[in-house]
Amino acid sequence: MFYDRVKESADYIRSKADAGADVALILGSGLGRIVDIMENRKTVPYGDIPNFPKSSVAGHEGNLVFGNIGSTRVMALQGRFHYYEGFTMKEVAYPVYVMKLLGIGEMIVTNACGGINESFRPGDLMIIDDFINSVSDNPLIGANDERFGKRFPDMSEPYSRELRDAAEKAARDLGIEAKHGVYAFFQGPCYETAAEIRMFRTMGSDAVGMSTVPETIAANYMGIKTLGIACITNMATGLCKEKHSHEEVVAVANKSSEKLCMWIEKLLRDRGA
Ligand code: HPA
Repeated sequence: MFYDRVKESADYIRSKADAGADVALILGSGLGRIVDIMENRKTVPYGDIPNFPKSSVAGHEGNLVFGNIGSTRVMALQGRFHYYEGFTMKEVAYPVYVMKLLGIGEMIVTNACGGINESFRPGDLMIIDDFINSVSDNPLIGANDERFGKRFPDMSEPYSRELRDAAEKAARDLGIEAKHGVYAFFQGPCYETAAEIRMFRTMGSDAVGMSTVPETIAANYMGIKTLGIACITNMATGLCKEKHSHEEVVAVANKSSEKLCMWIEKLLRDRGA
């Protein structure tokens, strides 16, 4: 049974990192540096965890890293699973189910994405206010296990108002300009066409990317409060002259990651204060 598989993963992780965690961090492409500021780190490679999916993409390390930022106990996911890799939506969201059984109540999910809102520039950081799932699939499809959540979960506040306000305040205190917007989930792995970006814009999207939404849906289903921060690494197709490349995405994300790290560090220190 799915529940038993998740429990086996969680039990193994608990046996390796018994301190536990309050907040989970999912780190997007080029945004893994935050683990460097975590204290008393303990690493659990994904490959050692029973039933955990196995990742493949270059630049996505596969580790759970436990540690402290201030008094907040953090579990960072260095590397995530993408739908375009061939994982099912359930597999993509698998770590979130594990979080639930580890007793984690909050999740901060980050990603690299393309900007659609023309007031954005590469390097900007955006608090995700809402999402559009443009992929005709969902991690919750299939028999429902009430131990995780309800059959028909509400999705009226997928990104917690309280956490967005806290993030906004932390950004203001640091002098970081936080953009806001709606994130559209595109399945990839090719980048969007210019026509698709016009469609996404018409639908009300400010940014587009290939992750985050499956994990957000699963987290909300299980009552894990979620904050999403997107790094705009490029303007989307048709809104920029250059062709997209993963190398460019990672390079811009790397550059912004210092700002993002400071922001998340402040947020977590304030949270524990
Ligand atoms: N589109 C989709 N995903 C992305 C992009 C993009 O332009 N940039 C980084 N991830």
